[in-house]
Amino acid sequence: MSSLKFMVQPGGQLKGTIRVPGDKSISHRSIMLGSLAEGTTEVSGFLQGEDSLATLNAFRQMGVQIEGPTAAGKVTIYGVGMNGLKASAQPLDLGNSGTSMRLLSGLLSGQQFDIILEGDESLSGRPMRRVTDPLAEMGATIETEADGTAPLRIKGGIPMKGFHYEMPMASAQVKSCLLLAGLYAEGQTCVTEPAPTRDHTERMLNGFGVEVSREKERICLSGGGQLQATQVDVPADISSAAFFLVGASIAEGSDLTLQHVGINPTRIGVINILREMGANIEVLNERVSGGEPVADLRVQSAPLQGIEIPLDQVPLAIDEFPVLFVAAACAQGETILRGAEELRVKESDRIQVMADGLTTLGVDAKPTVDGIVIQGGTMGGGIVHSHHDHRISMSFAMAALRATAPIEIEDCDNVNTSFPGFSTLAAAVGLKIEEHQS
Ligand code: S3P
Repeated sequence: MSSLKFMVQPGGQLKGTIRVPGDKSISHRSIMLGSLAEGTTEVSGFLQGEDSLATLNAFRQMGVQIEGPTAAGKVTIYGVGMNGLKASAQPLDLGNSGTSMRLLSGLLSGQQFDIILEGDESLSGRPMRRVTDPLAEMGATIETEADGTAPLRIKGGIPMKGFHYEMPMASAQVKSCLLLAGLYAEGQTCVTEPAPTRDHTERMLNGFGVEVSREKERICLSGGGQLQATQVDVPADISSAAFFLVGASIAEGSDLTLQHVGINPTRIGVINILREMGANIEVLNERVSGGEPVADLRVQSAPLQGIEIPLDQVPLAIDEFPVLFVAAACAQGETILRGAEELRVKESDRIQVMADGLTTLGVDAKPTVDGIVIQGGTMGGGIVHSHHDHRISMSFAMAALRATAPIEIEDCDNVNTSFPGFSTLAAAVGLKIEEHQS
């Protein structure tokens, strides 16, 4: 199998105005809810990454007619209603996408047909009991491998019952899975979260006409309703913008504007943390689009200081830690992260993989059980391994802006899961990046 490498020369600065691709979380949900709705849903700004396309293809496989995405990210979904999905003879292949698998496990537990969900090597190693155990309490019958991993074999025709669930971890995927299962359940389904997590499912369900109530940490909905088609505007993904927020912060002389970025309060941990480190980020033209707050973000370089990352920001920045570790490596002093054990079960073990890569570059980065301790200083070059994790690849690409020698990053193909065109866009604003196929 061929493999993509990034070769990034040291130095440079980031300048210009760009729009990064659409939000991955919102793109997934637009296909799921649009497919279950009555009527035709129009989506704009859809992320044409492999993860969201895996969700799109899964619904096509279950008989939903979906047009697009066009080059401009327009998708038209001809909704089939709550009971209009059809069985698929083939398993649904969800590739690298944890969001597809976890949300679909809930949505598909209440169907009349059996179905199998499978994924690539990374996804097949990720924990699924966090969804299959609570779904079983609702009545679902799902078989996993002996160690609780995919493939998931979901039995159809099983009546689901609403329930109240106290989530043991702060996970939007688990919350969303159970709310989507709750649409098919008798009575009320409530999920209590230990800390706020991204609320795109709740917002979008409201947009499709389903009432989702929230009282403190408890989110509830009632089963048996219908979804009405609507329009969904997908903002640019703050998780993709994050690479540029850090890149422009650490590269002296940078001045970069990122347009139409989603700034949902459950996603802005990266801005809060970077600002606390001393970053110069302006939030401009704040507006609401399709039920989600968006803004343009202007970032200029600034000296960063190491901090102790506030615990309450951890779930709000959960996907941004790989690149925040790069910011920490460029900051003055020590940065300490705690309470982030979830990073160990992402597309890779992001604590270990980042610690290994930073160490290769000469940074003092010590992993702990639930976080990392990084001493800021100078960074050299070298060969780092992404472990096929998209966010690790892009984080080390940005590190080159402050490295003293080239950085070569192995196994970057999966950048396409969330950020197709990353290297072209990054090069256009000043990153000295080249792709090599081997
Ligand atoms: C996501 C939730 C998060 C995040 C993932 C997308 C979502 O996962 O890491 O990239 O769209 O709901 P967890 O729920 O496992 O924290």
